[in-house]
Order: sequence, then C-alpha cells, then structure tokens
Amino acid sequence: MHWAVSCSFLGRTVHSSTQIIPQTTDMPRHVAVIMDGNGRWARARGLPRVAGHKKGVDSVRSLVSDCGRKGIAHLTLFAFSSENWRRPPDEVSWLMALFVSLLEREVKSLHRNKVRLRVIGDLKAFEPKLQDLIHDAEALTSQNQGLNLTIAANYGGRWDLLQAMQAMLASKPHLALHPQHIGEADLSAFLTMADAPEPDLFIRTGGEQRISNFLLWHLAYTELYFTDTLWPDFDEAAFACALHSYRARERRFGRTSEQLRVES
Ligand code: FPP
Repeated sequence: MHWAVSCSFLGRTVHSSTQIIPQTTDMPRHVAVIMDGNGRWARARGLPRVAGHKKGVDSVRSLVSDCGRKGIAHLTLFAFSSENWRRPPDEVSWLMALFVSLLEREVKSLHRNKVRLRVIGDLKAFEPKLQDLIHDAEALTSQNQGLNLTIAANYGGRWDLLQAMQAMLASKPHLALHPQHIGEADLSAFLTMADAPEPDLFIRTGGEQRISNFLLWHLAYTELYFTDTLWPDFDEAAFACALHSYRARERRFGRTSEQLRVES
C-alpha cells in the first residue's frame, strides 16, 4: 500500500518530487550493495587482488542465503561498473572469467532455492558466451517466486537514465513535442528494475562514502549505510549491524516526526 503523491497546502495541491511515499517495515524489502574492498583484503594478506574477488564470492553466497531466510524480496549487487573497464586488463579478464564460471556453477543452486536472477547493465559489451549464459540463467529462473537477485554488470546510473530516456521517446514520440507532459512515471517505467520497489537500504563496504554512479534515480530516498568492513569480511553479523542501523532510522519522506507519530 502507498500513500498519495500530492498534498494540499493553503488550498493548493502540491506535488512531491517523489511519486509515492512507500509504507515501510522494520525489514527492508530491497537491499542494494556496493561490494567494495576486495583488493585491499587481498593486499593485506600479500595475495593478488583477484584473490579478494574470489573470497568476495563467499560473502555474496552468504548474503543471498541470509536475505532468502529473512524474506527480503530484492537484493541488488553492484558487480562491475561501467567505469571498472579502466582497471588493469588482467583484472578485467579475470573478473569476466569469474562471472562466467559463477554462472556455470551457481545457477542450478539459485534455481533450486527459488531465486529469480536478473542482470542489469549494458550487456552488449560482454563476450557472446557471457551474454548467452546471462540470458539462459534469466530464462531458467524467470518464474521463481523467492528472492529477486539482481546483478548490476557494466552498469552505470547515468547509463540507466539515458537508456530510459531513449526508450521512452522511442515508445512515446509525442512526448518529445510536449516535454512539459513528461512525468516521473513516464521515465521510471523504462528504467532497469522498473518493477521492483526502490531500495530501502543501500550498503557500501570498504570505507568509501559515495554512490559511484550506482542506482542514481532509485536511491533518492534510500537509507545509506557505510561500513569500513571489507567485502570479503562482510558476514551475517555485519549484515545484522546494517539492518540494526536501518531499523533505527526514521524514514520521513519529507514529513515531520510529529506527522509520523500521528499517522502511526
Ligand atoms: C570492488 O572491490 C569489487 C569489484 C569491482 C568486484 C566485485 C565482484 C565480486 C564480489 C565477485 C563476483 C560477484 C558477483 C555477484 C558476480 P575493489 O576491487 O575495488 O577493492 P579495493 O577498493 O580494495 O581495491
């Protein structure tokens, strides 16, 4: 259930810049994560950076299971940004090989556990074998009713906004002639993850405090949680701390604390 978009102020109807005020609960419906710190985890142990990515896969498995157990409906993981191509070629190739082997090895188990897997991003840049594996994994799991696991790969928030704008104008060319008629819902319908609720909780591990071109539109009212824990060390206890912090937040969506008390 959602609250209305507009409210009345001095006899005028005032529209909020966000479309809806979602009803929230103690457990987030959608968690989005930037998994940072793999390289530093490896360096601290005298290992190559890729060893950190490999260990990071264990944290992914643990979080996916934990979200499933907790009944969290959506988990979105930033695996490879459109800026990550700037990394040393060896590391990029290794990451691509890791994605391929993960899809080959893990999809059956995800399917058994009713996980619906989707990959968002500009997938054309990936080698055909990886594109095929992604397509097959999405098709296999498309009817599953458990956790919605979305992997952002070659994803950028600005790319998402641009592709949504292009798709919107291609599908509704009359809007180009009447831009004043474009509403938030016209555009958001074409964003990736248009059918998912916006994230309630964003987590970034590894100590940096930035969004790094992740879900720019979708994070407008998301609670942000930053932790120094490096991604390979992000275990169930670390996730519990993030959830604890989330539960302590007052999600006002522009209203006052007093209004929230009256409404609850
Ligand atoms: C950022 O750490 C991590 C990445 C760019 C890759 C993340 C990939 C995985 C955890 C494995 C695959 C996961 C899925 C879901 C396919 P960094 O390398 O920037 O670490 P640093 O900041 O310490 O250098």
